[in-house]
Amino acid sequence: MTLENIRLDVDYVRSQFPAFKDPLSKDWSFFENAGGSYVPKQVIDRLNNFMISTKVQPYAEYPMSKIAGNNMDKAIELFAEMINANSKEIIIGGSTSINLYVLSNALKYSLNPGDEIIVTNQDHEANITPWRRLSEVGANIIEWKINPKTAELDIDTYANLLTDKTKIVAVTHCSNIVGTVNNLKKISELAHKKKAIVIGDGVSYAPHGFPDVKELGVDFYTFSLYKTYGPHLALLYGKEEILKKLPNQNHQFLDGKYPYTINPGGPNHEELVSLIGIYEYLMKLYKYHFNNNQFSIREKISEINKLIAKHEQEIANPILDYISKREDFKLIGKSMIKNKNRAPTISFVVKNKSSKVVSDFLVKNKIATRNDNFYAWRCLQALKINTDDGVIRISLTHYNSEIESQKLIQMLDLI
Ligand SMILES: Cc1ncc(COP(=O)(O)O)c(C=O)c1O
Repeated sequence: MTLENIRLDVDYVRSQFPAFKDPLSKDWSFFENAGGSYVPKQVIDRLNNFMISTKVQPYAEYPMSKIAGNNMDKAIELFAEMINANSKEIIIGGSTSINLYVLSNALKYSLNPGDEIIVTNQDHEANITPWRRLSEVGANIIEWKINPKTAELDIDTYANLLTDKTKIVAVTHCSNIVGTVNNLKKISELAHKKKAIVIGDGVSYAPHGFPDVKELGVDFYTFSLYKTYGPHLALLYGKEEILKKLPNQNHQFLDGKYPYTINPGGPNHEELVSLIGIYEYLMKLYKYHFNNNQFSIREKISEINKLIAKHEQEIANPILDYISKREDFKLIGKSMIKNKNRAPTISFVVKNKSSKVVSDFLVKNKIATRNDNFYAWRCLQALKINTDDGVIRISLTHYNSEIESQKLIQMLDLI
């Protein structure tokens, strides 16, 4: 069967997530997925099993410990395969913010005064402040500004900012406010011509399909696992040839033992093991919809991504269409998803109405959403939106249904 004939079975998807049966959450339409997603039962089972039978210090010879350590390694190996990396290129830390602070600290030793770092004003602050702080070692910070009319980052503007002094480009793959998917491949190609490295923030992209980091060509890529159906951890990918050379940020005896050098403290063990559950869930989804076992893990992920993208486009486009046509609403970003050019992360403001009032109205009607600047306050400032009241953000993911999307539109119609 070809992908054109296959639709994501949302009832099946939802049956994998206990939150949709839980008395507290079952009656809600959950549209705050860009904040943090629900987890499938496979993740919960892995977490519980670890806590029951292997909650001891890992990597010793007794079986409880051996299994704990093996499963920790397995989680990393599986994530490496899913994003087309090798396991020495994967760092699992407490959050994207932490991972990027550690990385920026390690990279600062390779900078000389006058070197340039490009940051954007579209990014979440997690991929801005750590790089801006490097002005303390003499780096010049160059801001790639959004086009205030479209809220998008124009590639021509970027091309003009690159110089022979550019050393680091920190840019989001997809903004948590605007939703447009930035062309990281092109951004990386242009940066590499100047011998600069690219740090891509995939936090708002990865929940809609794990990317192929080699295909993107980025040097570093990060996303938060608590938004990709897992526990509160985050993944940082780094090209092995660069990681290998970075100065150690961990205990001194670990010099040279990358990637631990960029992972002081390491991740929470039980949460790390529960990441296997994300893999198991996605493979279950694959088997249910395709059942072709000839493919590699990465190929299966790629097929699932297409299926998810098709569904997300179908449920998000009616919302985007409704919001963009309301004269008293101002949608941020593109008004339609086409060929995955936009994530289903939809932000808007309402003329003469506080975003909080609108969001509270939706919450009263059992639509879980919120108003905020979502830490992308430079983006909101550039768009002249009050950073305290912020935008109303409706962020969908593949477990949202057409019924929920229709209900949301009906509620928006009452505003
Ligand atoms: C686009 C984006 N980047 C970075 C972050 C920071 O992630 P973390 O909470 O894991 O530090 C977020 C969090 O919401 C985000 O949306």
